[in-house]
Amino acid sequence: MTMSNQVMVRGLTRHFGQVAAVTDLSFTVEPGVVTGFLGPNGAGKTTTLRMLLGLVRPTSGTATIGGRRYADLTHPARTVGAVLDASSFHPGRSARNHLRVYGDMIGCSERRIDEVVDLLGMPEFADRPVRGFSTGMRQRLNLATAMLGDPPVLVLDEPGNGLDPEGIAWLRRFLRAMADEGRTVLVSSHVLSEAEQMVDQVLVIRRGRLMSAGPLAGLTGDGSTLEQAFLRLTGGAA
Ligand SMILES: Nc1ncnc2c1ncn2[C@@H]1O[C@H](COP(=O)(O)OP(=O)(O)OP(=O)(O)O)[C@@H](O)[C@H]1O
Ligand SMILES: [Mg+2]
Repeated sequence: MTMSNQVMVRGLTRHFGQVAAVTDLSFTVEPGVVTGFLGPNGAGKTTTLRMLLGLVRPTSGTATIGGRRYADLTHPARTVGAVLDASSFHPGRSARNHLRVYGDMIGCSERRIDEVVDLLGMPEFADRPVRGFSTGMRQRLNLATAMLGDPPVLVLDEPGNGLDPEGIAWLRRFLRAMADEGRTVLVSSHVLSEAEQMVDQVLVIRRGRLMSAGPLAGLTGDGSTLEQAFLRLTGGAA
């Protein structure tokens, strides 16, 4: 496991006017495991991930991928695959054509497009216009786009949103496979019961501050659910 795949956040802070969205957050995300970035609505998950991806400027502190800030990466799309919740697709374009447009931007081959279509289980709908896609299909297209550059690091904001149980099971297997290949997988969720089945390591944040970091088993090893552990951690007030 090389340091080049590590995600590191140090003293990360972001204020929006009076709102302290993220306060002095520090953590490290290692390759080879699935790390859940968990916390209730408004806890600061998206803001943190957006800072990591260079989309929001920190008030202070740093967020790096393989030791570099996103803005300093030589090949961003080949270093980190990102899925944020607000992605839009051209409605008349097929999934495959959407992937071609992005693929052209980062210089990937038609063969890689085919690989990613297979990897994400999309052969049946890859040639249909995106306008008719279900939530699950859209999530897969999002993930497919993130995977185009074969990045060693994945940063996914609520990839389970809107998925049915079968979709969640598929996502769990996908994330596991990506981690088993040695990738760094950071995945946020506000749905603890769902995250519990998907992650090895947990980072729990609440009101922009880190509450807990470590193996999932450290929180649930006593037989409690992640939800119970979380309520215990946060004094019952999520
Ligand atoms: N652009 C912005 N302007 C003002 N406030 C913002 C902005 N972005 C985030 N915030 C505030 O920062 C806090 C953290 O929001 P954030 O979206 O990071 O939470 P989250 O953990 O992703 O929540 P959710 O589970 O609902 O997605 C909230 O109070 C939110 O209102
Ligand atoms: Mg969010």
